[in-house]
Amino acid sequence: MDKQKKIENEESVEPEVQEEKKIKLSIRNLKKYFKESGQLAVDNVSFDVYDGEFLSILGHSGCGKTTILRMIVGLLDVSEGTILKDGKDITFEKVSKRKMGMVFQNYALFENMTVIENVEYALKIHKETREKARDVATQLLSKMHLTKFANKKPVDLSGGQQQRVAIARTLALKPDVILFDEPMSALDVSTRHELCEEIKRIQKVFKTTMIYITHDQEEAFLLSDRIMVMDTAKISQIGTPEEIMKNPANKFVKEFVCDNLKSKIKNLEKIVEMTNDEKD
Ligand SMILES: Nc1ncnc2c1ncn2[C@@H]1O[C@H](COP(=O)(O)OP(=O)(O)O)[C@@H](O)[C@H]1O
Ligand SMILES: [Mg+2]
Repeated sequence: MDKQKKIENEESVEPEVQEEKKIKLSIRNLKKYFKESGQLAVDNVSFDVYDGEFLSILGHSGCGKTTILRMIVGLLDVSEGTILKDGKDITFEKVSKRKMGMVFQNYALFENMTVIENVEYALKIHKETREKARDVATQLLSKMHLTKFANKKPVDLSGGQQQRVAIARTLALKPDVILFDEPMSALDVSTRHELCEEIKRIQKVFKTTMIYITHDQEEAFLLSDRIMVMDTAKISQIGTPEEIMKNPANKFVKEFVCDNLKSKIKNLEKIVEMTNDEKD
């Protein structure tokens, strides 16, 4: 075979070049030991979060989810380990320098301020002019379909609407990463479904990297690019919803995630059957 032919042949069997995903956050050997309770709440946890990814952390109550989130955002000192953001070590960086936003279960809105004032507030603190802050807040409320609530007080809004304002307020500072700590726990089921759709839409529009804590399998599966399943203080598996469903890494993941979801589906099927029977 002449040389040119050989090169062409070699090129034709080259695997397709896969687009490399950029790593936004890299968590390495993270540990949290609470001296007061003598508890190892997070035990040597390592994982990456890709740029623009929606990663859920799914686990039962008390498994260490909030502790991981608080260390990433800088609200809690790490006992051991490293947190890298865009390749830079931010383990000991101040909260205000990390460019991350958090959304909590209880919305934490300022009750005495209107919706738009809530969204502007952080911008003013960060020394934006009054006009610029109003401009940014107005645009955000429009993107979040909240314009009609701009001059209402939080008390006049439903729980789901308040949570959307809290998300808008977080987005106002253009964080690189948004961390959600069980933001739907206080909401009723139908509002949860709506807010799930809304959060998915927001992520498509803003393309922000998001880490979302939940104990609800369905929520994690509806929202996530990948899910990190936690057992007590440790990671059990990280994968796409499909990977986890098809290949649960161990008995815990199989029971806590796969069997739970399947039994929910079975229950729903029973309800559908019942309603079909009624029609007959
Ligand atoms: N400030 C604290 N002091 C002592 N123990 C704590 C503290 N915060 C959390 N813990 C313990 O660490 C474990 C993990 O808690 P947490 O991260 O809040 O769990 P999750 O968010 O998954 O429900 C729990 O057993 C909890 O009791
Ligand atoms: Mg928690």
